[in-house]
Amino acid sequence: MSAFTPGPASQPHEPAIHLLNLIRHFPGRGGVATKALDGVSLAVQPGEIFGIVGRSGAGKSTLIRCVNLLERPTSGEVRVLGEDLLLLSDRALRERRRRIGMVFQHFNLLSSRTVAGNVAFPLEIAGVPQAEREARVQEVLGLVGLSQKADAYPAQLSGGQKQRVGIARALAPNPSILLCDEATSALDPETTHDILGLIRQLRDKLDLTVLLITHEMAVVKEICDRVAVMEAGKVLEEGRVFDVFTRPTHPTTRSFIAGTIGHSVPRGTVARLPAARPGEEKRLLQVLFAGPNSTRAVISEASRRFGIDLDIISGRIDEIAGEPFGLMALAAYGPSAKLDEATAWFEELGLTVTPLAEVN
Ligand SMILES: Nc1ncnc2c1ncn2[C@@H]1O[C@H](COP(=O)(O)OP(=O)(O)OP(=O)(O)O)[C@@H](O)[C@H]1O
Ligand SMILES: [Mg+2]
Repeated sequence: MSAFTPGPASQPHEPAIHLLNLIRHFPGRGGVATKALDGVSLAVQPGEIFGIVGRSGAGKSTLIRCVNLLERPTSGEVRVLGEDLLLLSDRALRERRRRIGMVFQHFNLLSSRTVAGNVAFPLEIAGVPQAEREARVQEVLGLVGLSQKADAYPAQLSGGQKQRVGIARALAPNPSILLCDEATSALDPETTHDILGLIRQLRDKLDLTVLLITHEMAVVKEICDRVAVMEAGKVLEEGRVFDVFTRPTHPTTRSFIAGTIGHSVPRGTVARLPAARPGEEKRLLQVLFAGPNSTRAVISEASRRFGIDLDIISGRIDEIAGEPFGLMALAAYGPSAKLDEATAWFEELGLTVTPLAEVN
């Protein structure tokens, strides 16, 4: 059977990757198990770039390794392209894995093989005849812009070029799913940008479904359509990237986002702000707004309605996937109850209010 046999046609609207209540426990020291995955359910739609973000130890790698069963879940269902992988024979699973390419943080290239030799490797294992293999290697090296480097060895390549080889190798068997575990974490920001651009371009050209793991919200913001935020083996929240950035619901997500797009105000600036009047409170707030709301009007309206003072410390406009959103740092003065009411009113209008971060 050829390595390029198309998979069974998925049902319309069936997710490309559907994880149901995945649990993965590792035996720990002293008999206390590590719950690397503690009941994760996710559905990734065909053609999506879906990000999973979380701190070290959140369970991201365990999760992505469950998608091709490099890691077997303790319980749960792993449905890929319409099939429950856990029900397949070893032989069938080997064949299905060719539809799932994987890219690694440290590239995992074979140093004794040339670029072409590395890319050919999965095709050799799949038993693809030499002529077909060579043509395919040329083709995928072209896709990642490395045709000129076919005869180079990994040691002669930059980090970005090595990752291009990693991507070409993953794509060689013509998969419909690409898994990326921290694929840009070993790269500088400019090379990260190039590689993310390449992944998006390949998704568009080859109709790939991409599941991408990162600990950086900046990566999610740049490339993902949807995102899930993980902590301690659980998904805290998920949604369209724009929605999760502009309306985060979990404190962990808020802190991730604050580090990426959030305002921070120098301590000196904060120290120079007037003190609250007796019986009143001073709060430093970040207001994040999406869509057409004119915040200036909203802010003066809030002052009038609630009898509070709102000073704009700074403001700026940013963009996610072409959609603009605004960020404003405010100092709010007034009775606590009125500040609470104003915050609730902002939230009702679709603005997101978080405490403002101070920096040195
Ligand atoms: N093979 C294993 N044996 C024992 N414990 C493991 C194993 N693999 C992972 N774990 C534990 O499971 C938890 C989740 O690990 P995982 O590697 O999935 O996290 P991660 O989110 O990918 O972290 P990082 O960002 O550091 O890569 C951690 O507590 C880890 O120590
Ligand atoms: Mg990991």
